[in-house]
Amino acid sequence: MTTVKTTPVHASSLSAVGISKTYGTGAAAREILGNVTFEVQSQETVCIVGPSGAGKTTLLRCLAGLMPPTAGAVYLGKDEVVAPPQRLAVVFQDYSRSLMPWLTVAENVSLPLRGRPGLSKTNRATKVQAALESVGLSNAGTQYPWQLSGGMQQRVAIARALAYEPDVLLMDEPFASVDAQTRSDLEDLTHTIKAKYGMTILLVTHDIEESVYLADRVIVLSGTPTSVTEIVPVNLAYPRDQVSTKSTREFAELRAHILKLIRRPAAGQEAEPGHD
Ligand SMILES: Nc1ncnc2c1ncn2[C@@H]1O[C@H](COP(=O)(O)OP(=O)(O)O)[C@@H](O)[C@H]1O
Ligand SMILES: [Mg+2]
Repeated sequence: MTTVKTTPVHASSLSAVGISKTYGTGAAAREILGNVTFEVQSQETVCIVGPSGAGKTTLLRCLAGLMPPTAGAVYLGKDEVVAPPQRLAVVFQDYSRSLMPWLTVAENVSLPLRGRPGLSKTNRATKVQAALESVGLSNAGTQYPWQLSGGMQQRVAIARALAYEPDVLLMDEPFASVDAQTRSDLEDLTHTIKAKYGMTILLVTHDIEESVYLADRVIVLSGTPTSVTEIVPVNLAYPRDQVSTKSTREFAELRAHILKLIRRPAAGQEAEPGHD
C-alpha cells in the first residue's frame, strides 16, 4: 500500500533568493554563482541544466543546507535553510561513495531512519521494504552493494532517500555514472516514484534531453559567474515515454532552445581570446 502524504500547498516549495557563492579569499577568490534566484513549487519537478563546472553541485549543496551561500538565502516553505532540513533528502552522483560497503542493502536504506523518534523496528523494516519495492529491488535487501551493478546501486541510493519520505528530493547528476540503457530506466523510475510519492523534486544534470524528459520546468544556468539564463516551461504530456515523447516536435524544439541558451554567452561576457 502506498501512503501519499498530503502537505499544505507551498509547504515544500524550495526557493533560492539571490544566491552567490565565492570560493577562496583575496586574490584566490572565484565567484562561481552570482545572484541565482528561482522557486521550485510544491510537488513540482524542476531540472537545473548547465555545463560541467558551472557550479551545479555548489548550488545544490547550498540548497541542501550543506554549505552556506556567500550571499542570499534558501527557503524551504517559509523557513530559511541554514542546516540540512529534516524533510529534505539528497541523492548524489557517486553511489559507490554514498553506500556503506559493509552494510547490506536493507541496512543501507534503513540508515537515515535509525534514531527517528517513535519509529519501531518493525515499522522501519516495513518502510525499507516498501522503498526497495518502489525501485524494483524487493529481493535485494540481504545483498551487499558491491554485489550489485552500478544502476542497481543507484536504485539503492534512491530507495534510501524514499524510505526517509522526504517532502523535497534533491538529485545531483544521479544517472551520470551509468550506461545509456540503465540511465533511461532510471529516468523512467524517477517519473514512477514522482507519481507515487508526489514530492518536490529538483534534479541537476548536464544532459539537456534528460532535463526536458523529466521536468515540469527547466532552469538553464550559464555565464561567469553562473546565473539563471532562462526558466523554460515543459508542457509535454504525462505519462512520458522514452520513444514517443522524445520523438515529438515539442521535445525537439525544447532541446534545441535550451542548447542555444547554453551555448550563447551572456551579454557582455563574450570570451576574448588571450584575456581570461
Ligand atoms: N570546495 C571548493 N573549493 C574551491 N573551488 C571549488 C570547490 N568546489 C567546487 N569548486 C570549483 O567551483 C566550480 C564549480 O564546481 P561545481 O559546483 O562542482 O560545478 P558542476 O557541478 O556544475 O560541475 C569549479 O570550477 C570547481 O573547481
Ligand atoms: Mg557537479
